[in-house]
Amino acid sequence: MKIERICILGGSGFVGTRLVSQLAARGLEVRVLSRRREMAKELILLPTVEVVEANVHDQPELIQHFRGMDAVINLVGILHESKIGRIDLPSARRGDFQKVHVELPRKVIHACGQSGVQRLLHMSALGADPNSRSAYQRSKGIAEALVREAAMRHSQHENWYLNGPKFIRGYDLNVTLFRPSVIFGRGDSFLSMFSRLLRMSPVLPLASAGSRFAPVHVEDVARAFADSLDNPATYGQTYELCGPNTYTLQELVAYVGEVIGKPRGIIPLGKWASYFQAWAMEFKPGRKLMTRDNYYALCTDNVCRGGWPPVFDFQPASLEAIAPEYLRADTPRARYEDYRENARR
Ligand SMILES: NC(=O)c1ccc[n+]([C@@H]2O[C@H](COP(=O)([O-])OP(=O)(O)OC[C@H]3O[C@@H](n4cnc5c(N)ncnc54)[C@H](OP(=O)(O)O)[C@@H]3O)[C@@H](O)[C@H]2O)c1
Repeated sequence: MKIERICILGGSGFVGTRLVSQLAARGLEVRVLSRRREMAKELILLPTVEVVEANVHDQPELIQHFRGMDAVINLVGILHESKIGRIDLPSARRGDFQKVHVELPRKVIHACGQSGVQRLLHMSALGADPNSRSAYQRSKGIAEALVREAAMRHSQHENWYLNGPKFIRGYDLNVTLFRPSVIFGRGDSFLSMFSRLLRMSPVLPLASAGSRFAPVHVEDVARAFADSLDNPATYGQTYELCGPNTYTLQELVAYVGEVIGKPRGIIPLGKWASYFQAWAMEFKPGRKLMTRDNYYALCTDNVCRGGWPPVFDFQPASLEAIAPEYLRADTPRARYEDYRENARR
């Protein structure tokens, strides 16, 4: 199936802007749905890209925006809920994670059916698991199951499915899911956050210092999405995306310190100290650095089971080849821009 027009949810974010740029460079028409159009300023300038202000949680709006599209890509995700404090509840069926990671994918699947879109790329994350202790990972895991189930249901022989009280004609929904490790690149929040902390403090008490990651470059993640769009070999598949090397969190933070010329003392915290540090940080006003839910997520290593998926005909870049350039450029001016962005101004 030839894919020429793509609708993207979450296209204004860190991964989204790189993906939209790559798709535009391939001459594809891209419609980005955003809650605030002015936040996607750099995308508006791209010739084949339209940025539409939309409430993506509104089903009829979604259907309207999906009409005439060949594919939909859902990148929407959050790392923290706006109200934290009851994360030990056993269910993810509440709060922002439920709304953004579960209800939204459900609406996206339904809107694909209603508008005749047959191709869906879904962004998940390594560690996504409906049984995880982390509500983030649970909600991502539930969404994965929903997306896979929708694809199976729609490709069944009968090709009819239940839509509320009535049966409507089904369609083929070809889905591909992606589960990246932590993603790095200019504008990332992970390494840049540690770069900022290392500049501010002579020592760094570090929670979950032994957790393992295989950071993957944002351009490689975007390219994997773009390459899979019209490749039937990727239909129905789930791809774990990792960079070539694995590091503990402590090694990563030490590396960032070296690169920016601030080799600080790092104090690895034990299990309980990590938990209480995460808890204390939940009270910090403004942007959250860490929560207990993040702590639970960090209890599982963020690494792939195999190597880079051979279906993508390129090799992922290493952290060392990319990160120094943008980490060293983390100047006061850049930080000011970052503060403004976080304040959404
Ligand atoms: N960054 C990583 O290291 C990493 C690792 C693994 C997986 N992922 C996954 O990759 C995806 C993209 O990550 P990212 O780093 O690019 O995130 P990001 O920069 O925070 O962008 C997320 C996008 O989602 C949209 N969004 C956020 N909250 C929303 C809400 N409540 N309702 C509707 N839309 C909302 C925003 O769009 P508007 O503001 O324009 O509406 C934003 O463009 C996420 O699903 C994330 O879980 C990221």
